[in-house]
Amino acid sequence: MVAGNGLLYPLLGFASCVVFIYISLGDLTLYHFEEPKMAFVERNGTRFMVDGRAFYVNGWNSYWLMDQAVEAFSRPRVKAMLQAGAKMGLTVCRTWAFNDGAYNALQTSPGRFNERVFKALDGVIAEARQHGIRLILSLVNNLQAYGGKTQYVKWAWEEGVALSSSNDSFFFDPSIRSYFKNYVKTILTRRNSLTGIEYRDDPTIFAWELINEPRCMSDPSGDTLQDWIEEMSRFVKSIDKNHLLTVGLEGFYGPSRNPEKLSVNPEAWATLLGSDFIQNSEISTIDFASIHVYPDNWFKEKELEDKLKFVSKWVISHIEDGDKVLKKPVMVTEFGLSNKNKDFEPSHRDKFYKTIYDIIYESARKNGAGAGAFPWQFLVEGMEEYNDDFGIVPWERSSTYRMILDQSCRLAGIGGQDQSKGILKEIC
Ligand SMILES: *[C@@H]1O[C@H](CO)[C@@H](O)[C@H](O)[C@H]1NC(C)=O
Ligand SMILES: *[C@@H]1O[C@H](CO)[C@@H](O)[C@H](O)[C@H]1NC(C)=O
Repeated sequence: MVAGNGLLYPLLGFASCVVFIYISLGDLTLYHFEEPKMAFVERNGTRFMVDGRAFYVNGWNSYWLMDQAVEAFSRPRVKAMLQAGAKMGLTVCRTWAFNDGAYNALQTSPGRFNERVFKALDGVIAEARQHGIRLILSLVNNLQAYGGKTQYVKWAWEEGVALSSSNDSFFFDPSIRSYFKNYVKTILTRRNSLTGIEYRDDPTIFAWELINEPRCMSDPSGDTLQDWIEEMSRFVKSIDKNHLLTVGLEGFYGPSRNPEKLSVNPEAWATLLGSDFIQNSEISTIDFASIHVYPDNWFKEKELEDKLKFVSKWVISHIEDGDKVLKKPVMVTEFGLSNKNKDFEPSHRDKFYKTIYDIIYESARKNGAGAGAFPWQFLVEGMEEYNDDFGIVPWERSSTYRMILDQSCRLAGIGGQDQSKGILKEIC
């Protein structure tokens, strides 16, 4: 699977001659290498559209693509994963477009970037395009992995401009806000060294995601996070009008809107995280809503059947919000079942996946807001150190694999795609 003759090598090799052409021609045409045609994904009400047709997403998470593309030894994993995703009929991968201050960081300090890592991200995007895969690119982490809020706050202290040591000052400190805006601007206007296309003009990017799983517990009213999302989403749109934008929410209901929905939250703590699914997703510069689903993390003791009941209620409730309140698509951008559960069996995970896939399909079939789902997370073989208790190599278990293919086929069917062509012909 993971052969060393990856497509990225010729692409990266080509980069040096692109630089040459670039220097000699200045800003005139760069070059065109043959790549699959792709249109921007658009939105019409609760549905995504591509080329005038509804587009339902069978997607997946592989957060590690840029990280693995930096070093030659791990780079073939990127191609292997994207190729395998395409073979499963998957169309969108959600991944990290950030690494703030950690090992092989993209942003090494505020406003300073490692060109070698940027080239790795260029390579991920170029490679995705080759396989007809689009990307949801997340711009920062609420959690500490790969830097996150904590790293931004640390930088502000090191530069002597921090207002507070709270990690949540990421959201309210004006200096940190300008660090982040500067980061966003650099990414959006980055010219891909392999394709010559600025990221903001590249239809390979399905959408930007402002922040992975934002929480601002220091302000449970939700005002601080709401204000940050408003400002940052306006900022993204001022630079990039081509792409869709989402927040990166887990989906918890907050106190400010729809108090009758609070009972759908897993437990009372979820109301106090400073986020509010409805209020945050309603912002006009946010194009679609997201939820995550982690019953193992959200409940201490619950049997599988009860977890699945919660999962149904959780996903259906948010799709209903998309239909009735937000009038925007809703995607399950992460869902995972832990293999650390007592009595865990892989068949439990199949049931869990199926529960979510079925709800998305049923909504999509009726032109509803349920627009896609992304398991957390897929890996290729030999990546044990990148796994958590949720990851799978999808082709290692045939029942899981078949279920993923079936979801690709039935969603493509609703989107009116020709199943007698390309990969769909092989798998459907
Ligand atoms: C958007 O959706 C509405 C309702 O389904 C439809 O009438 C309209 O033609 C669509 N617009 C475009 C541009 O597809
Ligand atoms: C910020 O978050 C990090 C990581 O979770 C934690 O170690 C640190 O104590 C937090 N800082 C403050 C001031 O709470």
